[in-house]
Amino acid sequence: MASVAKRKPGTGGPAARLPETPALAPSILTADFGHLADQIAAAEAGGARLFHLDVMDGHFVPNLTIGPVIVEAIDRLTARPLDVHLMIEQPDRYIERFARAGADMISIHQEAVPHLHRTVQLIRECGAAPGVALNPSTPIGALEEILPDLDYVLLMSVNPGFGGQRFIPSVMAKVAALRQRVDESGEKTWIEVDGGVGPDNIVALRENGADILVAGSAVFDGRDPKERARALAALLERARRR
Ligand code: DX5
Ligand code: ZN
Repeated sequence: MASVAKRKPGTGGPAARLPETPALAPSILTADFGHLADQIAAAEAGGARLFHLDVMDGHFVPNLTIGPVIVEAIDRLTARPLDVHLMIEQPDRYIERFARAGADMISIHQEAVPHLHRTVQLIRECGAAPGVALNPSTPIGALEEILPDLDYVLLMSVNPGFGGQRFIPSVMAKVAALRQRVDESGEKTWIEVDGGVGPDNIVALRENGADILVAGSAVFDGRDPKERARALAALLERARRR
């Protein structure tokens, strides 16, 4: 079903497929993996502009999830861009494999990577859009020098590792501060927010400057993912960035 041909990794340049923003990005972490095709089709029908795929290694975070084989399978299920969030140590070892599997956007954690600039360039060389993720306790100043090289910044609004956690309220001000910094820079860098996003905070997050809103349990909570995604996407469409 994925009709857009992938660019060959190693050719550089902008990523093959990127979403329009503001964008709702369902995270499949809490989806029913026994019925993943149906779950993805439902979220897509409800307005998912991209899919957020959480990769965990049991080292950087205390949980294990999916690898490139599953990313490739999901790529065959949807024509929407795939946003791969690497919560892993030594991501350089796997970036090309995830890009080949169909990742259009790849984020790595500032806290996990000693040579951020090199890793960001590697993501771009592999044909994906590079992003850097920050844990809730990491200040946005940690990205000052790398910001011009990024297509997006992922602000974690929970401590990474698990779906279904509560949004950490102080991240709202962090979103606004990063928005101001990005706007001053004149760059088009997207701001993505991940963790505890739902109907209670998605409008405020957009108003404070978020472009991509990840929602895991707010979409895949066992009930109708199409309706859940539709309601969130509608809130996001109506919200205005301040
Ligand atoms: C947490 C992951 C998130 C998670 C979001 O480590 O990065 O993407 O799936 O799930 P919710 O929306 O339930 O917090
Ligand atoms: Zn994530």
